[in-house]
Amino acid sequence: MESSISQIKKDYLDKISRAKTLKELDDIFLALFGKNGEITLLPKEFSKLTPSEKQKIGPLFNAVKTELESAIEKRREEIREVGYAELTGEGLDLQPVEVKPRKGHLHPITQFEKEIIDLFDKLGFQQFDAPHVDTDEYNFELLNIPAEHPARDLWDTLYIDSKNSGIQPGKLLLRTHTSNAQIRAMRDIKTPLRMMSLGRCFRYEAVDARHNHTFEQFEIVYVDKRVSMTNLQYLSETFLKAIFGPEIKTRLRPKYFPFVEPGAGVEGECVFCKGKGCRICGGVGWLELAGAGMIHPTVLQNGGINPSEYSGIAWGFGPERLIMLKYGIADLREFLSGDLKFLEKF
Ligand code: PHE
Repeated sequence: MESSISQIKKDYLDKISRAKTLKELDDIFLALFGKNGEITLLPKEFSKLTPSEKQKIGPLFNAVKTELESAIEKRREEIREVGYAELTGEGLDLQPVEVKPRKGHLHPITQFEKEIIDLFDKLGFQQFDAPHVDTDEYNFELLNIPAEHPARDLWDTLYIDSKNSGIQPGKLLLRTHTSNAQIRAMRDIKTPLRMMSLGRCFRYEAVDARHNHTFEQFEIVYVDKRVSMTNLQYLSETFLKAIFGPEIKTRLRPKYFPFVEPGAGVEGECVFCKGKGCRICGGVGWLELAGAGMIHPTVLQNGGINPSEYSGIAWGFGPERLIMLKYGIADLREFLSGDLKFLEKF
């Protein structure tokens, strides 16, 4: 018994002195003092000893136990002080490491809208903002869409509970288009007027790859003496060529909107089939990209402009639609998904 205690002491003091990491020391500690550790198990043998042997072995055992414990503790301190690098000779590389900051960038819609703003800024259009939460008046009534008029069905509207704001129920809504900027711009800026308004719009849509409840619009209003459909055609072409390149052809087709007369759909030649007709354009070779037209005289009047003196054009483009065509994106919902895999492509 005496010699096995001495053997344990010798072996482990040696192991402890050679340990280089705290982990190694933990393992040694367990091998000695763990549940089945060599020191832990030793006292079980004591019953076999004679009383005089016990008298000798007891203190020896205690002394070895304490010595090993303090040797481990001492070595722990050494390792902590000196550090792993010096003990192992592996040396720490303390040169500053270049940690590249993760770079963010503007959302593709924001990037695109900045380009639009730059272009129309050069053409003399000023930016104008209108509220997302607006009244029935600006979104519909003053745009020649009276209450109960069947044309309201063109916009599936989200109404706001206005009980607590003192506004008559059904009169406060999330704007369905950026056309809610039209009357405000006419009243604020006066003539001649060239304004652009970009921002979010909301509709009570059945959401799918081509429709979302939240989307962007890009509105322009141009009012001056003798403004005509020719200006609309020219601006549409200039705009679409700036986005898709000089090859793209543009046309206007008759379309009904209550606040324009005549009304038009701005169409671009399908960028996928170059006008031949494909699945995406439904075989017609053209894609409708905006609603537009000559501003209705009633709307000009509502905006404080004399329609016998001035005329105007307006349009509303969908930026998402344009980006989808430009980059071949199939699902409109990606824009608001927050999916970094999608966003990092831009
Ligand atoms: N506001 C219309 C829409 O969202 C588009 C439009 C704008 C039509 C301006 C004509 C003139 O559907």
